[in-house]
Amino acid sequence: MGVGPGDPGNLTLRAINTLTSADLVIAPCSSPEIEGRAESIIRQALPEITCHRLVFDMSPGETGTEARVRGARQAANDLHRSLSEGRTVAFITLGDPNIFSTFALVAKEVSKLSPKTEIKTIPGIMAFQEVASLGGINLLDETEKLFLVTAREGITDVEDALRSTNAAIVIYKGGRNLVQIVETLEKANRLKGAVIGEMLGLDGESLEPLDAVTARKASYLATVIAPPLRIIEPPVD
Ligand SMILES: C[S@@+](CC[C@H](N)C(=O)[O-])C[C@H]1O[C@@H](n2cnc3c(N)ncnc32)[C@H](O)[C@@H]1O
Repeated sequence: MGVGPGDPGNLTLRAINTLTSADLVIAPCSSPEIEGRAESIIRQALPEITCHRLVFDMSPGETGTEARVRGARQAANDLHRSLSEGRTVAFITLGDPNIFSTFALVAKEVSKLSPKTEIKTIPGIMAFQEVASLGGINLLDETEKLFLVTAREGITDVEDALRSTNAAIVIYKGGRNLVQIVETLEKANRLKGAVIGEMLGLDGESLEPLDAVTARKASYLATVIAPPLRIIEPPVD
C-alpha cells in the first residue's frame, strides 16, 4: 500500500483504514536497526501501529536487480507463514505501489509462493503530484501529455520526451545526473518553470527552481518537473 512521498498528511483514508485493520504491517528497511522512510510516515501519523521491519536490498538500477529479486524472494518467504495462516498483511511503500515500487517484485514472489493469496494495492500520492502541488505547477491542461521518465542510467529518455513540446516531463531517479538534466532542459528551452523537489516531507526537504541548482548532484529521492512549453498569446488591443 502507498503511503505517499513523505508528508504523513498525504496518507489517504483508505490507507489509514487498511493499516488499522491489518493483522500485520510490514515496513521494508535496509537494516533492522534503522527505521525506513515509509515506516517513519506511519509512526508520525499512526503512532499506535507497530511496523515489523523486513530487511531487504532495495538498491535501484541494473546492478541492484539481482539483489532486489533475491531480497523480494526472501521477503516472500518471510511473509509466507502469516499469509498461509490467513492473516492480512499490509506492506507499506513510498508513493504509489504501482509506480516504480519494490512492492511489485515482492507481490510477484508472494504469488509464486502462495498462489491463493489475494493481493490488492491501495494507491498512494505519487512524489511528482506533491512536487506539482508544492511548486504551484498546473501540470497538464487541454490536450497536453505527460511523460514520466527515469534518468538514473542516463538522460536518453529525457531527450526523447523533450521532442514533444506540449508534454510535461517528470523525471524520477535523476539525482546523480542532475547537471546533465539541467543542461539538456536549458538547450531545449525548457528550464523556465522547471523545479526540483528533494526529500519531500522528509528530513532535508527542499523545493527549488531548476535554474537555481546548477553544478551539483541531488539525492536519489529527487523529482524534476518541466512543465509543457506554453505559448501565451499576447493580448489583442
Ligand atoms: C523507486 S521510485 C518510487 C516512486 C514512488 N512509488 C511514487 O509513486 O512516486 C523513487 C523515485 O521517486 C521519487 N521520490 C520518491 N519519494 C520522493 C520524495 N519524498 N521527494 C522527492 N522525490 C521522491 C524520486 O524521483 C525517486 O528517485
